[in-house]
Amino acid sequence: MTNTLYGKSLISIGDLTLTEIHLILKRAQQLKDKPQLDLLKHKLLATCFFEPSTRTRLSFEAAMKRSGGDVIGFADSQSTSSKKGESLQDTMRMVAAYSDAIVVRHPAEGSARLAAEIAGKPVINAGDGANYHPSQTLLDLFTIQECQGRLDELHIAFVGDLKYGRTVHSLAQALCHFPKTRVYCVSPDSLNMPDSTCEDMRNAGLRFSFHKNLQDLLPKLDIVYMTRLQKERFDAAEFQKLRSQFSLTADMLDVAKSSLKVLHPLPRVDEIDVSVDHTGYAYYFQQAANGLCVRQAILSLLLNPA
Ligand code: CP
Repeated sequence: MTNTLYGKSLISIGDLTLTEIHLILKRAQQLKDKPQLDLLKHKLLATCFFEPSTRTRLSFEAAMKRSGGDVIGFADSQSTSSKKGESLQDTMRMVAAYSDAIVVRHPAEGSARLAAEIAGKPVINAGDGANYHPSQTLLDLFTIQECQGRLDELHIAFVGDLKYGRTVHSLAQALCHFPKTRVYCVSPDSLNMPDSTCEDMRNAGLRFSFHKNLQDLLPKLDIVYMTRLQKERFDAAEFQKLRSQFSLTADMLDVAKSSLKVLHPLPRVDEIDVSVDHTGYAYYFQQAANGLCVRQAILSLLLNPA
């Protein structure tokens, strides 16, 4: 299979064809089964995080180092010259001069695409505000395939903050490639899926519906995709009103199919009770661990021509 991803940036899932998505998932499975220690030898990745992260930054860094590559970067933009007023464009231009690829997380929507236009090197969007988080989506797809054996003909509920949750926007965009899957959007009115994402799903022929209550849906679901309220993106009074409104507990899952899996991009706060962790439904820690092989696959395909 030709590597059409070589030298490209990964800004949104919409930038990938279905063939490219399958290529990344297949490569990730190969690397999970048989790690390659020198896959990214002599390659240098820059990780630029203008917002907090645990999984995305550390799994990208681990992916590089466990594949023989190296990493530079920052986890706290306050320690960089952006604190002195340097623009994102100038920062990206300089970081590109020192590295082979850049992973960037920034609060402004569109920032990763702007960085890619300036950098002249592959840029991976690790989250641009409430917009997109495509590498998370690839690890979500990999995990769904792993735990359900398929990506089509599934019943998937997105639960919680669907307005600001960028992982949900990206995953919904990816599911447009699998129109026999059925999506249930479970959220309060104020945190509904954005119109633009609904429009994408509608245009793709993906069936979706809106719900206020998860419990009634549980018996028919294959995947429950829980999300955190994005506290940092709306006002404190509204947050207090909504927190704990969508919280999953182990006893709620008594009505679920035995094959149901609960996913969450993490970090979780109140939305999955720890009682769920010890059930056979919990798959969110395996999901996060899959970030390593999926990000190794992404990096190897963007950085190696063959
Ligand atoms: N899922 C995710 O993006 O986690 P972090 O914020 O810890 O990177």
